[in-house]
Amino acid sequence: MSEPTDASAESVPGPRTTPQALPSLPPAGPQNQPDDCETEPGTASDTTAPEPQMRYVDLTGSREAVGRSIRMRDMARRLPQLVRRSLALAWRVDRRATVGLLLCQAVAGVMQALGLVAIAGTLTALLSNGDVYHRLGEAWPSVALLAGAAGVRALLGITVNWLSSRLGPLMSREAEQMLLTGCAEVELCAYDEPDFNRDREAADRGAQVTGDLIDEGQDLIASGASFLAGAVVLAGVHWVLLPLLVAASLPQALAQVSVARVRYLANLRSNGDQRMLSVLRWHIYTKDAYTKDAADQIRAGTMSTFLSGRYRQTVARINREDRAAADQGARMSLIGALCGGLGSAVVWAAVVWLLAGGRIGVGHAGTAVFALQTAGQSVRGLVAVGARAVRTGLYMDDWSGFLDKAGGFRMRRGPRRPAPPTRIEIKSVTHRYAGKDRNALSDVSLTLRRGEVTALVGFNGSGKSTLSKLVSGLYLPTDGQVLWDGVPTGEADPQALWQQVALVPQNYAHWPLTVRENVTLGQPTARGDAAVREACAAAGADEVVNRLGADLDTLLAREWLNGEELSGGQWQRIALARAFFREAGLLVLDEPTANLDPRAEYRIFQRLRGLARDRVVLLVTHRITNVAVADRIVVLDEGRIVQEGTYRQLAQQPGLFQQLLSYQVTSEPDGEKHGTRT
Ligand SMILES: Nc1ncnc2c1ncn2[C@@H]1O[C@H](COP(=O)(O)OP(=O)(O)OP(=O)(O)O)[C@@H](O)[C@H]1O
Ligand SMILES: [Mg+2]
Repeated sequence: MSEPTDASAESVPGPRTTPQALPSLPPAGPQNQPDDCETEPGTASDTTAPEPQMRYVDLTGSREAVGRSIRMRDMARRLPQLVRRSLALAWRVDRRATVGLLLCQAVAGVMQALGLVAIAGTLTALLSNGDVYHRLGEAWPSVALLAGAAGVRALLGITVNWLSSRLGPLMSREAEQMLLTGCAEVELCAYDEPDFNRDREAADRGAQVTGDLIDEGQDLIASGASFLAGAVVLAGVHWVLLPLLVAASLPQALAQVSVARVRYLANLRSNGDQRMLSVLRWHIYTKDAYTKDAADQIRAGTMSTFLSGRYRQTVARINREDRAAADQGARMSLIGALCGGLGSAVVWAAVVWLLAGGRIGVGHAGTAVFALQTAGQSVRGLVAVGARAVRTGLYMDDWSGFLDKAGGFRMRRGPRRPAPPTRIEIKSVTHRYAGKDRNALSDVSLTLRRGEVTALVGFNGSGKSTLSKLVSGLYLPTDGQVLWDGVPTGEADPQALWQQVALVPQNYAHWPLTVRENVTLGQPTARGDAAVREACAAAGADEVVNRLGADLDTLLAREWLNGEELSGGQWQRIALARAFFREAGLLVLDEPTANLDPRAEYRIFQRLRGLARDRVVLLVTHRITNVAVADRIVVLDEGRIVQEGTYRQLAQQPGLFQQLLSYQVTSEPDGEKHGTRT
């Protein structure tokens, strides 16, 4: 098994998934120069403040503790559990292959034992006294058995390889699938828990190595069978050889377990750095809408030296961990090998002693030599594979631990299926995100009605998006209630509730799908493309679609075959078309026109009134001059409602709204000041 790294992180971002945010990088100081890459930050120069590092922090220390606990005792305890777990997963993905694999292994074990018995028979016959032809005649049935057993074992080996190479990838994919399902079912608030995201990444890596367990399980069974066969034959020669053999194998076994522990711990320590590398690679290599064209900014900001320096620094830290682990591992292996060598010498001395004392014959001595070699090899194999399997098991623990954790966050709301709402009441709602020491919203009360457009305005961070997510039932409030026609969002079936939500979030997804799928979100209606085109026309996306090569079939993914890339505003039109397409009772638009040109923006705001006729509309916007379209404007400040009223009322009242309005109006050229719609 190759040491798992956070290479998964590379595959995670993909062409269109949101990458991890690049941590805020400190200004380039002397310690950031590439030349300093071998120096631990903070020690490079005492004159500079220690550089803040993005490292994974094991807040509980539990993983480190688990890693430290890899000992022979733990291994023996965990191995059966591991075998059970990998068999259960294998059974889930392919029962026939699993049964076939187990059968093959059992038969291979029997063949191994038969092979050893045959060797014993051959040697006894050949090394006995008497005529050579007679001896050969005595030996041939054993030779035939030996050859037959070897042939069957070879065939079984090929079958085992075939079956396990089918099962391994299936198991990894199934483990990944279970993660995806687990994540899709959790409350959104789970993602705000720092532990949840860290554990999700660890679980990802666990899922990847799951397939290795099948190979390791097979090796374990094979070594176990081989050891048993050797031990039985050896015990037949003389019982004293058996405990001696085990004692001789023990030092190497202990050394190998220690090496496994050292390597797991080293990997654990460089986890954060591995992750950092993949985040840096993502930002350095990629030119993408999500990274806001980082490649452009790296050039324009002449950041490449700084970023490569950071990269090299991180690589240097990983290398240091690896080197230390390799050195320590080699020292342990050396001590184990020396002690093991001494132990083997004792075993061989015992064989000679038994032979010299006439306690065993020459034939038996020859058998003992073979059996000792076989059993010794299998003990070493057992421990080596066992240590590897335990390490894989630790990664798998991350996977299964995360599934348990996700289970804890699973949505358990209620069975009520809300109809399109006529009235949404927000009653004394307070919301605080996980790990925050301040409320995002405090004691907010508000009623939204069908037929009305309600606009939320306020400074950045005042809680507008949070309120829109609470209204949509994406989050449940920490305190207070959001009631859809009297039904608290916490008691409604979430899927049924979201059927009634059309949402254009502030950061909408650029799905690498066709235009049609981007609009329908994979849920076409009976009206087919006519409905898609109508929604596109309403959002101004028809102009975008008309210019695409394959109309609604155009794949909106530049890197993919036949894919086409859209501009920021064109993407926003598609996101709006999604919301207009959806036949939902609540329309939530969070900054829906931030990227639109003035003409497109004007059209969207014009449409809002019509849309509100048969639905509740909640609009979040910074375009204060455009909110006149709303029936009611709610002004938020630091999570509280500070003003509420019509545009006309608020524009005339001293207060935050007037202030916001004045900023926007004064930023326009003098001649435009009176263009404000009232
Ligand atoms: N997922 C989150 N986890 C933790 N804190 C969050 C999260 N989302 C928002 N916050 C915090 O909640 C507060 C309100 O954020 P919110 O996104 O609701 O503001 P906003 O009014 O929409 O701002 P903007 O105008 O910038 O979009 C902010 O202090 C923000 O830091
Ligand atoms: Mg917002």
